[in-house]
Amino acid sequence: APITVKKICCIGAGYVGGPTCAVIAVKCPNIQVTIVDLNQARIDAWNSDNLPIYEPGLDEVVKSARGKNLFFSTDVDKGILEADLIFVSVNTPTKKSGIGAGFAADLKFLQLATRRIAEVATSSKIVVEKSTVPCRTADAMRTILEANSKPGCHFDILSNPEFLAEGTAIADLFKPDRVLIGSLQTEQGKDACEALKNVYANWVPKEQILTVGLWSSELSKLAANAMLAQRISSVNALSAICEATGANIDEVAYAVGKDTRVGSKFLKASVGFGGSCFQKDILNLVYLSESLHLPEVAKYWRAVVEMNEHQKERFARKVVDTLFNTITGKKIAILGWAFKKDTGDTRESPSITIANHFLTEKARITVYDPQVTQDQIWLDLTNYGDIPADPIKEHLTICQSAEEACANAEAIVVCTEWDEFKQLDWKKIYAKCPRPAFVFDGRLMLNRKELTDIGFQVITIGTGDRV
Ligand code: UDX
Ligand code: UDX
Ligand code: ADP
Repeated sequence: APITVKKICCIGAGYVGGPTCAVIAVKCPNIQVTIVDLNQARIDAWNSDNLPIYEPGLDEVVKSARGKNLFFSTDVDKGILEADLIFVSVNTPTKKSGIGAGFAADLKFLQLATRRIAEVATSSKIVVEKSTVPCRTADAMRTILEANSKPGCHFDILSNPEFLAEGTAIADLFKPDRVLIGSLQTEQGKDACEALKNVYANWVPKEQILTVGLWSSELSKLAANAMLAQRISSVNALSAICEATGANIDEVAYAVGKDTRVGSKFLKASVGFGGSCFQKDILNLVYLSESLHLPEVAKYWRAVVEMNEHQKERFARKVVDTLFNTITGKKIAILGWAFKKDTGDTRESPSITIANHFLTEKARITVYDPQVTQDQIWLDLTNYGDIPADPIKEHLTICQSAEEACANAEAIVVCTEWDEFKQLDWKKIYAKCPRPAFVFDGRLMLNRKELTDIGFQVITIGTGDRV
């Protein structure tokens, strides 16, 4: 029979583990939730008034449960020992070297955490993979756990991928489209599945909690992200056709999205998708397909990432072309560094690619983002220390406001759709720009007519110049 979960431990206090388990704590007052991480600074931040990640609504959630049934700690072993159920929510970045470099997921952190569970646990546990992983990872975890467990300790593995999007994490967790749980189809596997299902049932309607096999669950996560990213690459491919023909991508996307078979969401053309998941998960799927001797399948998915690279480059090139084929020595303002609005996360942000392009052309760039720290921008541009900072220094200024970034800029390039960019005093900004003054809207978010009336030359992704 399924156990009743009383204590949960989450290994990994990151973008996924932190918000997910904080919401579980709030929704399940009878369960004690401990989130552990090896990173002391991160845990300290979770225990402070200044949480390590920015997410609307997260502060309230953490404050209402912290110290009651929600705890943050670096004592990984204690967390493991006490828990009935353990979420493994560590990072699984793309491998940088070795077999599958650039494609396969690096499972080092996941395996270390799994090994620790096996070594430390003195009683049976349900172990839940939360991190996005390649198919059949659960199998590897099970082998590690079984080979290292103490007598009398039994481990059940579940896959429970997280579908939250950054910037809306709390809303997504409160009201998920679905919760997916994968388990072995054995008695024990099904009992473990039921135990986790009962946790979510505290706030998610039962019919929205889907239970499937382990491998389906793992693949569904990769498939969901690949298909979402594919929509963006499709709409971005069409945006190039729009620019060349004078069609308008927002109108096209609106018309297409009205077909209920297609649906209207996730059809916004952009400078390209970023974030920690899309590219990583597709490359994962590419790697998987190749290992399964399905080269055509691999090629199909790879094209989604290639189109995304093309979109970023195309946008950057358009800036150069429009500024009369050279930006050397020119001042260009980049508005927005995060990969989307309402997050301070910059992983795979298109802004990085675009800024690098401008730096290669020896432009002087100014950057403003309301949530991203100066340190983070430097880490991104030096690729975490791989690229020397000195040559960049004289070409980069990080600003405290959009107005400051735009002052004297020959081009203003909007890369992230922060709401505040709509409300800027564009007249005032225009007064301080050399003529002709260009605005490049990489997010189709600005009022083109208003800006044109002020005097700006406005170039928007997915719209021809003849508007
Ligand atoms: C994504 C998935 O949405 C989520 O379900 C999964 O759990 C993790 O990966 P996230 O990366 O946080 O979430 O953000 P998302 O809103 O999906 O945006 C990803 C990127 O696509 C962003 O750069 C965004 O700007 C871009 N995007 C999104 C578009 O360019 N157009 C769109 O219509 C939607
Ligand atoms: C299509 C469009 O649906 C319609 O809007 C347009 O006006 C004309 O083209 P049609 O070709 O008649 O219509 O049929 P449709 O139902 O779209 O199916 C096309 C093909 O896709 C069929 O071979 C169908 O079997 C296949 N299909 C459809 C699938 O394989 N899987 C699906 O989920 C849906
Ligand atoms: P995600 O976006 O998937 O949540 P993050 O990088 O934000 O990824 O978070 C993963 C967290 O997992 C990091 O804070 C990292 O320190 C932590 N972590 C990685 N390996 C271990 C481990 N073996 N034990 C505890 N924490 C770990």
